[in-house]
Amino acid sequence: MIEIFNLSKYYIINGSKKVLFEGLSFEIKESDFISVTGESGCGKTTLLKIISGIEYPSSGYIVYDGFSPKFFRDFFISSFRNKNIGFVFQTFELLEGLTVLDNVLLPVYISGDFIPKYRERAIEVLNYVGMKEYVNSDVRILSGGQKQRIALARALIKSPKYIFADEPTANLDEKNSLEIISILEKINKEQNVGIVFVTHRQDVLDYSNKIIHISNSKTYIEEKK
Ligand SMILES: Nc1ncnc2c1ncn2[C@@H]1O[C@H](COP(=O)(O)OP(=O)(O)O)[C@@H](O)[C@H]1O
Ligand SMILES: [Mg+2]
Repeated sequence: MIEIFNLSKYYIINGSKKVLFEGLSFEIKESDFISVTGESGCGKTTLLKIISGIEYPSSGYIVYDGFSPKFFRDFFISSFRNKNIGFVFQTFELLEGLTVLDNVLLPVYISGDFIPKYRERAIEVLNYVGMKEYVNSDVRILSGGQKQRIALARALIKSPKYIFADEPTANLDEKNSLEIISILEKINKEQNVGIVFVTHRQDVLDYSNKIIHISNSKTYIEEKK
């Protein structure tokens, strides 16, 4: 579980304080499907970056599986992130010129894990997102919807506890958006992976069990039972 306590983020711009959000507290559990929503520029990506330890909050703190070390905190969070969080982005962020398989294995290359151990897992996750037959294709030949499915497979490769998806359907048409959302829903329900999903889509908000509405001083959390 990731526990967020009283998190705030602001910037000082030309001597005045610009608040993105204040006093934000919530939990991310493996059973959760959480939506983060709000106008462009309100701080949705910044919130994901803070929770992943890529940016610092202005105040507040975060506890990861019961731990919130004072010393070597950056090291602790980056190893927590590598092990437990998969990421999906609006622009897919695949490496062109590499095969589908190599793109899916990227997190394994980066963390220096033993590659052969993950080959079978790569085929398994590609099968899960319906892209197994493209394993040796160059990602450049794929459509947007297919690229995002490869990005989902890559996010799953190391069996994370959570997937953070930052506007993953913003560059997709309606049919592909719905497919990506339904795969994320399936991952949440079948594999017990907590999803944190940045979106403007009302239909996604409808089936999230928690919605984080960000709007500087009016930030609030809607929880459904
Ligand atoms: N280093 C910085 N200094 C000042 N403002 C910043 C800095 N980094 C980001 N911002 C501002 O923070 C706001 C939130 O950005 P972001 O989290 O990307 O918003 P969203 O994802 O909701 O569109 C933006 O208005 C951006 O300009
Ligand atoms: Mg953003």
